[in-house]
Amino acid sequence: MTEIRTPRLLLRRWYDDDLAPMAEIHADPQVMRWIGDGSVRDLERTAEDIERWEEEWDEEGFGLFAVELLASGELAGFAGLSVPTFLPEVLPAVEIGWRLGRQFWGQGYASEAAHAALEFALQDRGLDRVVSIARVGNDASENVMRKLGMVPERETKHPVYGHPLRVHTIDLSEFHA
Ligand SMILES: CC(C)(COP(=O)(O)OP(=O)(O)OC[C@H]1O[C@@H](n2cnc3c(N)ncnc32)[C@H](O)[C@@H]1OP(=O)(O)O)[C@@H](O)C(=O)NCCC(=O)NCCS
Repeated sequence: MTEIRTPRLLLRRWYDDDLAPMAEIHADPQVMRWIGDGSVRDLERTAEDIERWEEEWDEEGFGLFAVELLASGELAGFAGLSVPTFLPEVLPAVEIGWRLGRQFWGQGYASEAAHAALEFALQDRGLDRVVSIARVGNDASENVMRKLGMVPERETKHPVYGHPLRVHTIDLSEFHA
């Protein structure tokens, strides 16, 4: 099952029509501030990203869901699972992550989507542990982790950019869906 409905959201695989709104999200420096080297991404790069996210779904049986608002049909961004290959020291691992357009912040959408993605990880994929990795300073993201019941496990450095990262984890046997 790769489609999930929450009270306000539809989590689903990616459509061609998602490219333009996702590229708009990627063009916002505030959204991208704590991600990678902090630079914005253009349409071409966003198309490559979506292609990679879809490949991960095909290869792993899990991935980043496109998050759509049920009320309006708008694409809010993504939430879901991926393998954090950028940080080899935590592998093997599955990471939960999220990225929403700025107009969708502060409404509980990220937490609602992430909660459903953790439920998917546990019930559908049978995973027993999930990590989440944030750049130190990304308080909004760590707030989502905390609300999900994730706990800080260790601090490390980004292997390429050198900035401090915090790895959170959750034992899904203790996750109450
Ligand atoms: C990280 C990110 C997804 C968090 O989004 P967010 O909107 O702050 O997160 P939430 O969904 O938990 O919502 C937060 C607030 O919405 C408010 N809210 C409003 N209506 C709500 C509702 N119905 N239910 C729950 N919360 C609601 C709450 O006050 C909540 O804040 P609190 O937890 O302090 O009480 C967002 O900041 C983002 O996309 N950032 C850019 C990308 C990024 O950095 N990604 C992570 C990389 S590690």
